Amino acid sequence: MSLIKIEKVSKSFKGNILFEQASASFDKSKIHGIIGHNGSGKSVLFKMICGFVNPDQGNIIIDSKYRSKSSTFPKQIGFIIDRPGYIPGKTGFDNLKKLADIQRLITDEDIKNTMIRVGLQPDARQKVKHYSLGMKQKLALAQAIMENQEVLLLDEPFNALDQESVQNIRNMLIDFKEDGKTILLTSHNKEDIDLLCDHVYQINQRRLEQIR
Ligand SMILES: Nc1ncnc2c1ncn2[C@@H]1O[C@H](COP(=O)(O)OP(=O)(O)OP(=O)(O)O)[C@@H](O)[C@H]1O
Ligand SMILES: [Mg+2]
Repeated sequence: MSLIKIEKVSKSFKGNILFEQASASFDKSKIHGIIGHNGSGKSVLFKMICGFVNPDQGNIIIDSKYRSKSSTFPKQIGFIIDRPGYIPGKTGFDNLKKLADIQRLITDEDIKNTMIRVGLQPDARQKVKHYSLGMKQKLALAQAIMENQEVLLLDEPFNALDQESVQNIRNMLIDFKEDGKTILLTSHNKEDIDLLCDHVYQINQRRLEQIR
């Protein structure tokens, strides 16, 4: 069953053509990898799926169960796209709590459990401005998954993570898939793609070419 469908999507920015009649279909309960060189449009694709950027032409169809009708906020979609902004003077927990307060779907306990799951200490008083790069990445991951979203769009989720953390997050994503979640991820690391992805799309000549 196709959960996200990209239909003949074209997108350019001031003459920089990224997609021209690109199509793809992403099934439920699978891990889909999107690969392509720097600047090929991976992050823009994720922004279009989330509804933050509109295609110039074509459609992006998301199964109605996983989007919210009333607001532009994608309810059942968790995402990391580029580097998220945080309040530097607050702790990791306080940052996540502020985001969780928007929808009020989860408890403080849920936030703490998610932090532990990605390898952060929920009760640490350290402010985010003093976080290392890898810790910021874990915070981005925690933000993306904390509301138990059914669909995850993860733009370079393994960036800056140490080997043990990479392994932990890979296992977590496989568990998510087994729970029925649908994941789209980008990575410049071939091993991540080879090990995790059921299907792989490469951005090639402004299209999404399925190579697996
Ligand atoms: N809002 C925007 N306005 C103008 N150009 C943009 C905008 N957003 C993205 N672009 C351009 O679109 C191109 C694709 O950007 P994108 O961030 O999607 O690349 P990417 O495939 O994710 O690259 P990377 O591997 O480096 O993350 C880049 O040339 C970028 O400058
Ligand atoms: Mg990118």
